[in-house]
Amino acid sequence: MYFGVDYYPEHWPEERWTLDARMMREAGMNIVRLAEFAWVKMEPELGVYDFSWLDRAIEVLASEGIQIILGTPTAAAPKWLMDLHPDMYPVDVYGLKKGFGTRRHYCPNHAVYIEHSKRIARKMAEHYADNPHVVAWQVDNEFGGPCYCQSDLREFRKWLNRKYDTIEALNREWGTIFWSQTYRHFDEIDLPAYSSSDGFSQNAGAGDLSTPHNHNPGMLLDYHRFFTDATVAYQKAQIDEIRAYTALPITHNLMGHASDLDYFKLGKDLDFICWDNYPNNMWGKASPSSASMAHDLMRGIKEQNFWMMEQQSGPCGWQHMGDTPEPGQLRLWTYQALAHGAEAMVYFRWRACTVGIEQYWHGILDHDGIGRRRYREIKQLGAELAGLNDVFVDSQNVSPIAVIKSYDNYWSHRQQPHNRKFSYGMLLNAYYDAIADQHINLDVTSVETDFAKYKMVMMPAFNLMTAEISAKCEAYVAGGGALLITFRSGTKTWNNQMSTLTVPGHFREMAGVELEEFDSINFGRTVKVKAEFGEGTAAIWADVLNSNGAEVLATYDSHYYAGQPAVTVNRYGEGHVYYVGCDLDAVALGELMKLVAQREGLVPLLREPVSGVEIIAKTKDGQPFWVLLNYTNEGKRFEIPGDHVSLLDGSSVGGLITLAPYGVMVIRQQ
Ligand code: GLA
Repeated sequence: MYFGVDYYPEHWPEERWTLDARMMREAGMNIVRLAEFAWVKMEPELGVYDFSWLDRAIEVLASEGIQIILGTPTAAAPKWLMDLHPDMYPVDVYGLKKGFGTRRHYCPNHAVYIEHSKRIARKMAEHYADNPHVVAWQVDNEFGGPCYCQSDLREFRKWLNRKYDTIEALNREWGTIFWSQTYRHFDEIDLPAYSSSDGFSQNAGAGDLSTPHNHNPGMLLDYHRFFTDATVAYQKAQIDEIRAYTALPITHNLMGHASDLDYFKLGKDLDFICWDNYPNNMWGKASPSSASMAHDLMRGIKEQNFWMMEQQSGPCGWQHMGDTPEPGQLRLWTYQALAHGAEAMVYFRWRACTVGIEQYWHGILDHDGIGRRRYREIKQLGAELAGLNDVFVDSQNVSPIAVIKSYDNYWSHRQQPHNRKFSYGMLLNAYYDAIADQHINLDVTSVETDFAKYKMVMMPAFNLMTAEISAKCEAYVAGGGALLITFRSGTKTWNNQMSTLTVPGHFREMAGVELEEFDSINFGRTVKVKAEFGEGTAAIWADVLNSNGAEVLATYDSHYYAGQPAVTVNRYGEGHVYYVGCDLDAVALGELMKLVAQREGLVPLLREPVSGVEIIAKTKDGQPFWVLLNYTNEGKRFEIPGDHVSLLDGSSVGGLITLAPYGVMVIRQQ
């Protein structure tokens, strides 16, 4: 298994490299990522290349048995390059140029920047093609969301022309008759940037809006699609350059839940997925389940195991810092990643830097280069993981349920969230938690997945629909699958128009319900819900349903629609469709999903839920094993079924067990 760090030899005197490499080896490290921001050092002037320092760094690391991932440096173009064409800088939605001083200061649609990117990727690939120590490549660093410059405008028009072929088709799909927006030619189309109605927002107070939000919904959605395609093409241009010289695997480091780009599309050209995880950062702390869900999504991008390319290893932040990882947390986060499908672990970063905007972003070593508590913990972990080499690499997760994430739906909801408190991302999280808390494992994947693998597929608030997706859902349910949908499912067309079908649109027949009306819940009001599984409240949305034969699982218990169905289940063919017409508080949603799990024969891994503890079921070569994780700083005592052996220390594990604070167990049934 690869175990290592992100290392920046260019930040330190060469005399130090030997000690760094030795300390890495002593901590059990065997891989290092290099060079992804070192463009100016590799090409100090246009066409003048210097890889000698990098060659020496690689030799020093290799002499300690450490292998290399090389990153192309295109996320940090040198000033000399930007000065050649200042229009390569990105432009924000307000038309302001984002200048030099940090990184990601380019537009991926700029033809000249693309050429320079290809050139540096090619030069690196050519130089390192035969270097035996390089084992993988990373393209760029953390691609991000839209730019609004003139290159984008040119390319957007071409993209639209390709997509719609005729301007009439575009006018129809965007509904440009509204407010006289009709276009005569593709060249009349501008960018969906700051419009005259922006600044006047009907959405003040909502946290999950993209900008601009006052625009033609079809155009806004297409702009996100276009920008994803542009980024995919930009990435591919570099992949092709590297591929001309080497067959080594190529990746790009993703950002978990970040959703400005469609990661399913970005992932298609990559050999493997990797991602960057900072659970305690300057903005707050990710809940353990949010990090678990992000890992599951990363596994779902290609439906294969992934690498951690940057795993937090110290307190971090730019202007201010998040909490320092407590003793045991680095190990816990490492096993959490491995449990969810990581099979290589690279920590960010080796040593905190003394300069630059990230001088507070701590790594394993502090600024003085001395290995203290965090280094000792990583070293211990390195030794422990060496013994588990065969366990995690090529292991598989076993999940009976899939949560479907759709970036198109994400963008549509983010632009117009229906209710100011609604967030598609948070709704997916809520369903994920309601299942995961019962110790039932999940996959998070795209609507393109093979539904037949799952006992249940959840598509919360999947509002943009097509006849093809509808047919896929129907076939799955008719064949015995369980499908869960919610309020706002099936309300729109794929290009973001409101559907004229009676809600829930394409899902209506399957779900056996139709909407009489709905209640968007605002200003602190709540709606009561009652059911055999308990009572609860809705605080965002309540669909008032008419059942066309669906069984009613919950009804409303307040407001003028008291007594009408809130949650239903319908038999369709051999399977079931659950319709959850409202948001529910976490307790009620947990109870509902317990009932759903029971009805669908989804068996939890533990008899009783243990809060703060996660259990992940995996297999390796057909042999099942479990990873147990305690996310709390107190010991947890609970019973596990069966007799197991610990893969960490060979001890017998069974019956009533104690999982230490931030403790981890990896066990196999005997
Ligand atoms: C990202 C980047 C890294 C580093 C860290 C910390 O994940 O990929 O280069 O900047 O954030 O900010």
